[in-house]
Amino acid sequence: MNSSKIIGMGFYVPDNVITNEDLSQKIDTSDEWIQTRSGIKERRWASEEITTFDLAHKASLNAISNAGIDPQDIDMIIVGTLSSDYFFPGVSAQLQESLNLNTIGAFDIKAACSAFIYSLSIADQFIKTGMAKNILVVGAEAQTKLIDKSTKGRDIAVLFGDGAGAAIIQKTNDKSFILSTHLHCEGKNIKNLWMEAPGTSPGSWFENNNFVPERFTPAMNGREVFKNAVKRFPEVINEALVYNKLSIKDIKLIIPHQANFRISQAVANRMNVDMNIVYSNIHKYGNTTAASIPIALTEAIEEGRIIKGDHIILAAFGAGYTWASAAIKW
Ligand code: ACO
Repeated sequence: MNSSKIIGMGFYVPDNVITNEDLSQKIDTSDEWIQTRSGIKERRWASEEITTFDLAHKASLNAISNAGIDPQDIDMIIVGTLSSDYFFPGVSAQLQESLNLNTIGAFDIKAACSAFIYSLSIADQFIKTGMAKNILVVGAEAQTKLIDKSTKGRDIAVLFGDGAGAAIIQKTNDKSFILSTHLHCEGKNIKNLWMEAPGTSPGSWFENNNFVPERFTPAMNGREVFKNAVKRFPEVINEALVYNKLSIKDIKLIIPHQANFRISQAVANRMNVDMNIVYSNIHKYGNTTAASIPIALTEAIEEGRIIKGDHIILAAFGAGYTWASAAIKW
């Protein structure tokens, strides 16, 4: 059977740095509140003219250059995002056009923070079945354009940032690269982390004929999200370990979705592992949703924290709820 390998990674974040101090000038919050509850010191917010597509495009060019392939060899594009430039079509169509990739298949995956692993898993299946040879997989968000940046929206506003990460997944004879992927969803929790509008659900835009602007910004039940995240992350990491007959001691690095440093600490505690093997860059970028894992993976590689032969695990949890993991032998 065919197998798939990540042959190149790249990321891009907008230049506009927003520190906790910057936020506390505009809304009722503080560096101390944000750092103790999330570990975030600063994040990037895309300025008005920069879109999710722009970030995805730049990250893709970086991944293509890192992989050293001819872009014309790419035969599919999958983009994980919840902040596409348009309600439809997806960012993948814009990318396909901008990269001059003729008529190859391109589609978006809306699985929030788990979208990069969902997309990687789909790419892996297309390669295993022999239907594709080189797939561009992207996680990209300019989601801070959607958030309420006033004190009313502070629980969300301080956590999120923008950015994009991309990977080139290639067919290989090396049987041991992407070892397995594991995807889950529990739709009963939709309303604990969601953005209700614009949607087609009756009454989602208006109440008693009055337009409800709050429904056009993300809403989160922070405590519930926290409780479920610290349960599902270890579960799905263990699922990958058991499936591949690995022990946590075999794992060089866990790259969790950068949701919140406190969530990562709680996961490490529950799994009885040292924080040294749980990668974190949330202090620089905040929570970039679908972009967080490919950005973190690219930086971990650049920092020399992953070398050939290392076992790593990617793990995510987010809106839906969705959660997912991927076991990789680098
Ligand atoms: N600055 C100052 N005060 C704030 C802020 C802020 N940015 N946001 C909320 N508050 C206030 C609230 O209004 C509330 O005030 P009140 O008590 O007067 O009503 C108070 O802080 C709540 O404080 P805590 O109870 O200490 O808040 P908590 O410890 O629950 O922390 C947080 C909130 C950080 C959202 C926490 O619930 C959490 O980490 N949840 C996980 C959510 C998360 O990380 N989501 C990431 C996105 S989802 C994902 O990627 C998986």
